[in-house]
Amino acid sequence: MGVGTADGQRRSATITVRPVPVGGRSSVGSSGPPPPNREPSSVPSLPNVHVTTDAITDLAVDVLIVPVFRGAIEGPGTDTALHALGLSEVPRDASFRGKPGEVLHLAAPGQPWGRVTLVGLGRLDELDTAMVRRAMGAAIRSVASTAATVASTLPLVETSVASIQAAAEGALLGAYRYDDARSAPTPLPLTDVTLVVPSSLSAAATAAIGRAELHARAQCVARDLVAMPPNRLGPEEVATYVVDHLGADIEVEVWDEDRLRAERCAGLLSVADGSARPPRLVRLRYRPAEPVASVSLVGKGITFDSGGISLKRPSSNMDAMKGDMGGVAAIIGVFSVLQALDIPVEVHGELCLAENMPGGNATRPSDVVTYRDGTTVEVLNTDAEGRLVLADGLLLAAEADVDAIVDVATLTGAVSAAIGRHAVGVFANDDDLLRQLLTAGEDAGEPSWHLPLWEELSEGLESDVADLRNIGDKDRGAGASVGGLFLRHFVDGTPWAHLDIAGPSWRQSERDHLSKQGTGVPVRTLLRWLEQAG
Ligand code: BES
Ligand code: MN
Ligand code: ZN
Repeated sequence: MGVGTADGQRRSATITVRPVPVGGRSSVGSSGPPPPNREPSSVPSLPNVHVTTDAITDLAVDVLIVPVFRGAIEGPGTDTALHALGLSEVPRDASFRGKPGEVLHLAAPGQPWGRVTLVGLGRLDELDTAMVRRAMGAAIRSVASTAATVASTLPLVETSVASIQAAAEGALLGAYRYDDARSAPTPLPLTDVTLVVPSSLSAAATAAIGRAELHARAQCVARDLVAMPPNRLGPEEVATYVVDHLGADIEVEVWDEDRLRAERCAGLLSVADGSARPPRLVRLRYRPAEPVASVSLVGKGITFDSGGISLKRPSSNMDAMKGDMGGVAAIIGVFSVLQALDIPVEVHGELCLAENMPGGNATRPSDVVTYRDGTTVEVLNTDAEGRLVLADGLLLAAEADVDAIVDVATLTGAVSAAIGRHAVGVFANDDDLLRQLLTAGEDAGEPSWHLPLWEELSEGLESDVADLRNIGDKDRGAGASVGGLFLRHFVDGTPWAHLDIAGPSWRQSERDHLSKQGTGVPVRTLLRWLEQAG
């Protein structure tokens, strides 16, 4: 299939592509042999999730997962399971006291379950649905490579549909792994997870699990894209992935270098100048039959960020900078399920893709670039490249006259210094949009926090020679806010929010439902927001 990327003749291609497979295990994953060079290929393969209202004594599975609260307080089903093992109470020790995510595996000879796994949920009086997701993720992670079938009473700790959805999300996300770059990937042993649900909710549970599967699958698409090595996944390959993996319900247009030059997309061109790989802008459109609103998602897609001429220190975990396209990865994940979720909002995507390298033609600190709206920017630090490419996407998003723009970007190290690595920094020029996104993050169990766009900080972006400079002055601090203020210049008053995901989109270690490397944050926040906007 022509991708409209490598082909310099094509100025702009709108390409119809085949539907993305969603649903059960059998319909996903790479069917047939992988391509010879194992280029980015498959949609992640995840276990199936089922519901039951049967008694746990009737469930024959490799592992039964039961909840325990802090202080060894038994949760639903735990008493029955322990009793069957001849135990009168939770066998607690220094390694298992019921703290969040702790697990304890017990052999279950002569029982319908091969093993019983106890999982901690922390304090009973602090229980919430986010803890259900976390605990389920931790428990599944601990058994996914040694069990094919698992059942759990964890959803019963709360009588709510939200708890069932959270448990299913936790199970799917905890089972995720990336092994596309191994010479001999082994299939995930875990195939089936059965959730025991309250009979009063058994009808609603099926729908909740359907939503959970779509949210988790979208998140795992984002994880895969971040995990892919940057020599295999440059701007062109991301564009190809989008064309190959998004369904016919999504219109895809890929702008190559010629088109970017014609459209005066100065940021993408400037950042890509130091790289052998050309930039791309991928424009996505999802149009439901009767849209109730329209929004644009603008993503930072730096497939590797070396810093450019303002080179990062090689000792600074530069490998993590393959994840500098986490914003774009999240947006691709979101688009992969919009149709299946029946989102009633028209959604545009502007994926700003470039590689930031220090080649001989690289942008120099002090170069000035001119954007399509005439704005001139003095590039004083080539490592502040995210805002340069996002400016192109934001200008185009604003021109499309949408009701709201949300950009998603691994923009600054400063955001983690301000609020920690676990949370999304949220900036906005509109209070309603801000509230909606904070609420969506809360519901999704993806922590997020409002950060300011103080006018005082804007002065730091004044340039000696151009309209703006791309970094603030050293004395003012608040680097994450300065990044946000730079972006705000390009939205032309459209209601806009900026999600700085530099912290939570990448992890050095896995924990609970969150994977190592790409986490797929904030896919679930965006999906909840779009569901609620409808
Ligand atoms: N991609 C980085 C931000 C980043 C840092 C993401 C750590 C994930 C983890 C971004 O392009 C960058 O280099 N930002 C600079 C901005 C500065 C030069 C104004 C930073 O944060 O130091
Ligand atoms: Mn950078
Ligand atoms: Zn960057």
